[in-house]
Amino acid sequence: MEHTARLELDGQSHDLPVVEGTEHELAIDISKLRSETGYITLDDGYGNTGSCKSAITFIDGDKGILRYRGIPIEEIAGRSSFMETAWLIIFGKLPTVEDRERFRQLLTDNSMMHQSMRKHFDGFPPNAPPMAILSAMINTLSMHEPPLDMEDESQLEEAAARLLSKVRTIAAAAYKSSVGEPMVYPRYDYKYAQNFLHMMFSVPYREYEPKAEVVKALNLFLVLHADHEQNCSTSTVRMVASSKANMYASCAAGVCALWGPLHGGANVAVVEMLQEIKESGMNVSEYVAKVKDKEAKQKLMGFGHRVYRNFDPRSKILKKAADDMLEAMHIDDPLLDIARELEEAALSDDYFIERKLYPNVDFYSGVILRAMGLPLNMFTVMFAIGRMPGWIANWKEVHDDPKGRIYRPRQVYVGNPQTEWKPREER
Ligand code: CMC
Repeated sequence: MEHTARLELDGQSHDLPVVEGTEHELAIDISKLRSETGYITLDDGYGNTGSCKSAITFIDGDKGILRYRGIPIEEIAGRSSFMETAWLIIFGKLPTVEDRERFRQLLTDNSMMHQSMRKHFDGFPPNAPPMAILSAMINTLSMHEPPLDMEDESQLEEAAARLLSKVRTIAAAAYKSSVGEPMVYPRYDYKYAQNFLHMMFSVPYREYEPKAEVVKALNLFLVLHADHEQNCSTSTVRMVASSKANMYASCAAGVCALWGPLHGGANVAVVEMLQEIKESGMNVSEYVAKVKDKEAKQKLMGFGHRVYRNFDPRSKILKKAADDMLEAMHIDDPLLDIARELEEAALSDDYFIERKLYPNVDFYSGVILRAMGLPLNMFTVMFAIGRMPGWIANWKEVHDDPKGRIYRPRQVYVGNPQTEWKPREER
């Protein structure tokens, strides 16, 4: 028997189909509600709205579960490189040895920027935010790339490799331009994370030699950020993609959405918060009291999540990685100690317990990025590089959907009723 939900409205009953996902998530399909009843649904901030069916990433926020293409994040982290994870997310299965080799070669062959793209960097002011540069340059990239036939799977693989590879080159170039150093070419013999560190930190008179633990931690950071279902930036990418915009335009929009402090920008905000606590000499319980006070309009950055009402599994993995990395590199970062104290204080506080607020991915990631030597203004860029596979996969899912329609939500209008236009002298 068909599973339906009965809605009683204005004395009439309507049977709405219930859709079940592979993990038994249940959703009421309201797509015909307006045509049948004249009503729309209202869900400010989309907290309870499924915007699409997707086969890429599964999250159970109550249980703290995250899986890419069905595989638990705990099994992927530390075992698959970012490159392998990207292929898994975009193409739906773990790559075979041949897939890996082909994709690795595509990434290497596409790591350079078109020479004329370098001129664009000269046009940005010296203190331009790297997120602004990244978004602008991803769009610029589309003008410099020969068009590809996206209906052809092999060309799509090349397009994905180009974007993933060049985004890393652009990010490093944005940093170099911001510090007034010459851009560094990618190396043929380096893998993804190592090549990024080389382009970031090598200078003409000294080649940067990435430490194994730094490369490992960067890979882990990127893997943990690779996708996270219908978050703000990914929904933005899908929204843009639904108008049939190209992959570059859609992902550039994703960068802009990620920028804000409630989303990817939180990794910057966390470090700023930890620094503020350290410099002000405030103790952790005073800070916790401040974030509980609604008048202060201050959140505990790196805490809370729309979907997780339990530990964010990524934060658990990153906490351990931060401990391991700092120990291996003999770094004593006082911000890590403050973060640990803050977590402990928040997790035992009724305010956070009642609201089910736990540390999210951004809580410990900043400590790791600092230990790598990355400057604060690059933190959200790092998130963007990591999220690129998820954006590409979601773009592809929208693009491949034969029944896909343009995304176009409705609204409840609360503005002026019909109002008469007045000539200037009567206003
Ligand atoms: N500190 C203090 N109070 C909080 C926090 C926090 N970090 N997060 C939520 N709350 C309170 C919130 O004020 C509300 O209280 P009340 O019920 O008394 O009004 C309650 O908890 C429920 O929160 P909400 O605002 O309904 O949560 P949301 O789902 O709309 O927002 C969030 C989710 C992530 C934007 C929010 O938790 C937040 O602003 N956290 C800090 C920023 C942050 O760390 N963002 C990174 C998110 S994870 C990675 C990513 O998406 O990029």
